[in-house]
Amino acid sequence: MKPVVLAIALFLAHSTLLGQLKPSEYLKRMEAEKMADPAGEKKVRDLLKAMTLEEKVGQMTQLTHTVWVDEGVPFLANGDPGQVFSLDTNKFIPLVRDLHIGSFLNGIAVPPQKWYDYITTLQRITLRYNRHGIPMIYGMDHMHGVNYIEGGTIFPHNINLASTFDPRFAYRMGQVTSTESADLGHHWIFAPVYDIGRNPRFPRFYETLGEDPFLAGMMGAAIAKGIQENKEALPFKQAATAKHYLGYSDPKSGWDRSPAEISDQTLFEFHVPSFAAGIQAGVKTVMINSGEINSIPVHASYRLLTTLLRDELGFKGVTVTDWQDIMRLHDTHKTADSQKEAVYQGIMAGVDMSMTPYTTDFHRHLVELVKEGRIPMARIDLSVARILRLKVDLGLFENPYPRNDRFDRVGAPAHRQSALETARESLVLLKNEGVLPLEPGKVNKIVVTGPYANMKRNLAGGWSLRWIPTDDRLFPADMPTVWTALQQVYGKKAVMAREENLSDAAQGADAIIVVAGELPYSEGSGNVYDLTLDESQLRLIRAAQATGKPVVVIMVAGRPRVVREVYPATRAFLWAGLPGFEGATAIAEVISGAVNPSGKLSFSYPNYPGMYYTYDHKYHDLDIFRNFTDNKTMMAFFGDGLSYTTFRYDELKISGTEFSGNQSIKVSVKVTNTGSRAGKEAVLWYLTDEYASVTRPVKQLKHFEKQELAPGQSRVFEFEIAPQHLSFPVADGSRKLEDGYFRVSVGGQEARFQYRK
Ligand code: BGC
Ligand code: BGC
Repeated sequence: MKPVVLAIALFLAHSTLLGQLKPSEYLKRMEAEKMADPAGEKKVRDLLKAMTLEEKVGQMTQLTHTVWVDEGVPFLANGDPGQVFSLDTNKFIPLVRDLHIGSFLNGIAVPPQKWYDYITTLQRITLRYNRHGIPMIYGMDHMHGVNYIEGGTIFPHNINLASTFDPRFAYRMGQVTSTESADLGHHWIFAPVYDIGRNPRFPRFYETLGEDPFLAGMMGAAIAKGIQENKEALPFKQAATAKHYLGYSDPKSGWDRSPAEISDQTLFEFHVPSFAAGIQAGVKTVMINSGEINSIPVHASYRLLTTLLRDELGFKGVTVTDWQDIMRLHDTHKTADSQKEAVYQGIMAGVDMSMTPYTTDFHRHLVELVKEGRIPMARIDLSVARILRLKVDLGLFENPYPRNDRFDRVGAPAHRQSALETARESLVLLKNEGVLPLEPGKVNKIVVTGPYANMKRNLAGGWSLRWIPTDDRLFPADMPTVWTALQQVYGKKAVMAREENLSDAAQGADAIIVVAGELPYSEGSGNVYDLTLDESQLRLIRAAQATGKPVVVIMVAGRPRVVREVYPATRAFLWAGLPGFEGATAIAEVISGAVNPSGKLSFSYPNYPGMYYTYDHKYHDLDIFRNFTDNKTMMAFFGDGLSYTTFRYDELKISGTEFSGNQSIKVSVKVTNTGSRAGKEAVLWYLTDEYASVTRPVKQLKHFEKQELAPGQSRVFEFEIAPQHLSFPVADGSRKLEDGYFRVSVGGQEARFQYRK
């Protein structure tokens, strides 16, 4: 190829990759996204007309608090309280005065009054210097309740939330988050995470709503609605964030932000649906995946950020980069040979706002790129219009300042009660050979052991009070640990022991409870070489088993740490995940039987660190080698979970065994509580497509419902199967519906039917 032809070809390839559009096309997009409220849209258009380029780019820039805040130390060397979170207005003023920066983020858990003072000051300075009166918008990582407000309510992490199989808890978590934080000027919540938990080595596994796209979509949509539609927060409104779009959670190495290879089929089948559900629920913003998929950094992917997100999924809100990610196009992905080129790539791919978050270089580069004519003003206007609409939509122009007359909402008893109820239903009993519950009246003595038995921060995990909480003294004095919660129930009958004195302590004990798990981690700090539980904890479990007493393992962790070697001799195993501040109370209630467990695993639990598959794997994953395996490749699957009562499923009825066109058929099943105590049961409906042109998962969750049943009580559960349940996505993103035979299954019952177009 001649150099000039090559240059043109490269230019074309590059421009389609980055989507250099004609100005008229940006205008068309801007028109198509306009607000339903004409007055709001007029305000946005008027502002755009009046703003300079520098002012516009200021709206597209987001900086983090440590640029003008000294986080300080919570404790002095002598243990006395230290100074935290002091604001230096001299560092802040130039940002809004000279560069017109319009968005800020982040913090640590400080008391409501401190947040109130801080945000009031930032907003006052912003409005003093912004000649158009455009307020700043502040973003916060409240990922499981208000984890960055001292005294606030902290829910379980998402991996637990999903195992409740009850979207009402998800909605409530969003609502409580909003009620406790909106008054303080936290306008923008960087949650929910819509990444899908299909790779347990990924250190942010616990932030996902599990492995199933349908469950994650239902729960994730409910969280977003809880945040965005919360009437209790009025006059304030908040934006939720669908993050981290797209394909973040399954990097090849498992390590945070490392490259992913994801086929389009897999992308549409497993990664897109939860984001699509969030967008359908009205989520106002999207945060972008820091990684790269198939050698294209997502921050530079026009296809993902514009074609798929805007044109196909219909998203009209604001996209924000993740931490430093435009810069990383140059620094680590190396698709851009300079910082400025990186800005060009990100913006032309579809980024609206850059979380830079430490420097203002982005501002300078983007202004230059427009002045040089490389980026059209119409492209800038499109993003700025989206950002201004968000500010108008949230009512920031009318209510820019926080309020301080409702601080009693932070950590309110009713909110903590919701967090407790969520924690209770999120615990999954995976094994119970006649040990649990340990009824207090019948117990002589229980021995509690393990490095995490008397710790608070392990229950909350990362994103709790600090990005990575490293000190238990940060946590509320009244927050129980598993050990202190058990003491509440059993008093002196619960004794703490160490490995050295375990066999002595075990004398006369009814059971030994080992609290296993992990210390808190966030993002890359949680990368591991091996999913196996560390040797010192395995040794402790073996020592407990060697006493001959029944051993109960409580796993408090963010991902399924492998325990294959000690599992067979473990008599009861409770997956507690990261149950939050009320988690220990819930654990003690389940151990003692005050609460009947009803959680079901939101992911699959491996038996080996090197072998993993999800419940919705392909036939070919296993069938051809079935004879060579011991069939114990996995310890447990998505949907597993025991109760202290038993449920019988029978009388599966199907309204027809053939249907066609747009018809639907009804299936019902009777579920009976056949045990002697009340219990909640999540009824999970799966469909199997017997033969298809694209290989199908062995089964897929299509509907679920959780209800309480009294002893002896029966209820009929229903699922109406429509053609959309039978269709599946293909690699170009469209859906395919094929004639054939299908099976519907629920609780071991199964029926077969035929569908014809
Ligand atoms: C994380 C995001 C988070 C952001 C702001 C990033 O490093 O990936 O989840 O919202 O930082 O703290
Ligand atoms: C992380 C952010 C986090 C921040 C806390 C960064 O390295 O990526 O998510 O909020 O540190 O300081």
